[in-house]
Amino acid sequence: MAQSIAVISGKGGVGKSFFCVNSAAALAMRGKASLIVDVDSGMRNADIILRKSDSFIYDLSDIERGNCSFEDAIVDVAGGGRLALIPGAKDPDYVPEPEFLKKLAEKAAKKYRFVIFDCPAGIGASVRNAAQAADKVVIVTNPQKEAAIPASAAAETVRRASPDKPFFVLVNMVNPRGIGRRDMSPDQIMDSCCARLLGVVYRTDGVEKASRANTLLVTGKSLESQQLRNAAARLCGERVPLLL
Ligand SMILES: Nc1ncnc2c1ncn2[C@@H]1O[C@H](COP(=O)(O)OP(=O)(O)OP(=O)(O)O)[C@@H](O)[C@H]1O
Ligand SMILES: [Mg+2]
Repeated sequence: MAQSIAVISGKGGVGKSFFCVNSAAALAMRGKASLIVDVDSGMRNADIILRKSDSFIYDLSDIERGNCSFEDAIVDVAGGGRLALIPGAKDPDYVPEPEFLKKLAEKAAKKYRFVIFDCPAGIGASVRNAAQAADKVVIVTNPQKEAAIPASAAAETVRRASPDKPFFVLVNMVNPRGIGRRDMSPDQIMDSCCARLLGVVYRTDGVEKASRANTLLVTGKSLESQQLRNAAARLCGERVPLLL
């Protein structure tokens, strides 16, 4: 059965789009076709990370507004279409309706095993609508209190609108040398977000290096690549180590 996932955060810049793109690629590498849906209207960047910015005409808003079909808006990225993207709207005022996103996920389920909504930061209407449409929610945060406390506030607000949904947390950009004085531990973050731990990913300069090599971190051999692949494995229900 297909799964749809809303990837949210409290603060911006914590690695939601990074996680969406890399986990979708990891899932595709496991043979699970995955579609990223960029819900960050006006601030889309999944297409940039995937180097597909020059490869599309239509975006998410065009489907809802009837300017194109669902299929017309899909950009095949890799693996013969096993990794694909619906680019985010250029229009900053576009807010996708939850019913539309739910129908979109149902339609996508005919071809894709995972539909991943890359949300904007915070708790705006697009975020709440994507979470309402999705089967589960992944909160991405850094271990710093400045990110982790807003992450728990975002989780609380989104959970109020979608009470029976499973929540997971991905702790990203963790210092491999340990938790700092102003940091929260993954355990504390799980408790404050009332969410299960999906994974921990270290801060690394490998993201930059991979980008320069025209690839994604998750395809590499580094520990961080494996941490990302294990988070994707957990989305598939597997029990794999955290690799700390
Ligand atoms: N584990 C990591 N180590 C090093 N850099 C990272 C890591 N994760 C993400 N980054 C980098 O951090 C920056 C912000 O990531 P990203 O754009 O995915 O955040 P975001 O949460 O989607 O931001 P926004 O809220 O603006 O949508 C990017 O340059 C990304 O490459
Ligand atoms: Mg983003």
